[in-house]
Amino acid sequence: SAYEAGEHESFMRKEILEQPTSSQAVLRGRLDERFGTAHLGGLDMDARDLRAVRRVKILGCGSAYYVGQMGAALIEELARIPADAEAASEFRYRDPVIEPDTLYVAVSQSGETIDTLLAVQEVRRKGGRCVGLVNVVGSAIARECDGGIYLHAGPEVAVASTKALTNMFLGFALLALQLGRTRDLSIADGKRLVAGLERLPAQIEEVLAGEADLVEVAHQLAEARSLFFIGRVRGFPVAREGAQKFKEISYRHAEAYQTSELKHGPLALIDPEVPTVALVPRDELTERNIGALHEIDARQGPLVVITHAEVDLGEVRARRIDVPRNEPELDPILLTIPLQLLAYHAAQHLGHDIDKPRNLAKSVTVE
Ligand code: AGP
Repeated sequence: SAYEAGEHESFMRKEILEQPTSSQAVLRGRLDERFGTAHLGGLDMDARDLRAVRRVKILGCGSAYYVGQMGAALIEELARIPADAEAASEFRYRDPVIEPDTLYVAVSQSGETIDTLLAVQEVRRKGGRCVGLVNVVGSAIARECDGGIYLHAGPEVAVASTKALTNMFLGFALLALQLGRTRDLSIADGKRLVAGLERLPAQIEEVLAGEADLVEVAHQLAEARSLFFIGRVRGFPVAREGAQKFKEISYRHAEAYQTSELKHGPLALIDPEVPTVALVPRDELTERNIGALHEIDARQGPLVVITHAEVDLGEVRARRIDVPRNEPELDPILLTIPLQLLAYHAAQHLGHDIDKPRNLAKSVTVE
């Protein structure tokens, strides 16, 4: 085919390494440095429509749902509109109330995921407005939506999604920026985020350049039968996505929970056999996060900490992986990149078919 893994041993690795370029494609022509905003013509919503949005509901499955949670946080932070994400596979079964002033957003790489498609139909049947964040142009979900943002990640072949998810995050950042700038987000903040988005592709490249340092720790994690991924607030969907990627291709039990929930249960499972991958960005929760790391370390739980160079972990025994800092709102995507590499190298170490993990299909098109 015209699209082959080439010199890469798998499509997944090829797609991971493409991200510095593929991430530029979703931003191209959509950022406005002068007014600190984004232009999303495909949304088909004018300033008045955007201002009328009172709530945002994001619908997706699997990793698209977890990125949807990151997107909801961006929208709530930047636009101050209440926003949340829900598994599209559950949505229609609870006979959801569809509100005219809610903006529904369907997020999907393939645009063919049946659960997401049926969620869109549920919204539209009840008179709601649903826009799409979709990678595949002209796909069923893209056609069913009222408008949307194409992700332009290029073809994604590996079952475990990487570059499409990165572009989903960036798509949400653009949407949050545009919604924010039609409301209270200041021009200074808008410009700060535009500049942050422009820096991101090079920072993703920086994280990827550190790949060699992650291989050994990935191999160690591959040996564990069970592992935890933890994070708080902005870091929690990152932990969910990290656990998802890890379990899909390594077949290890990987579970995500909020760091703050540790003492409410999961701490009982921590011992030298159960490693934890912790997201500890430099933010208002750093000190609290480090407190939780102490709890894990005290039970001899092995720790891998994805963090920023400025963070001092003190006495905690941990293998640390530093990522570059961007604007705090945009940090989640940089924290996600090393988790892709950890999952990849763990699966490779175990000798699994990385691009086609057992029991899974690239897109789930039947109910
Ligand atoms: C991602 O690694 C998974 N393979 C899976 O969760 C996927 O994100 C989900 O099935 C949704 O697919 P879509 O984006 O094509 O709708």
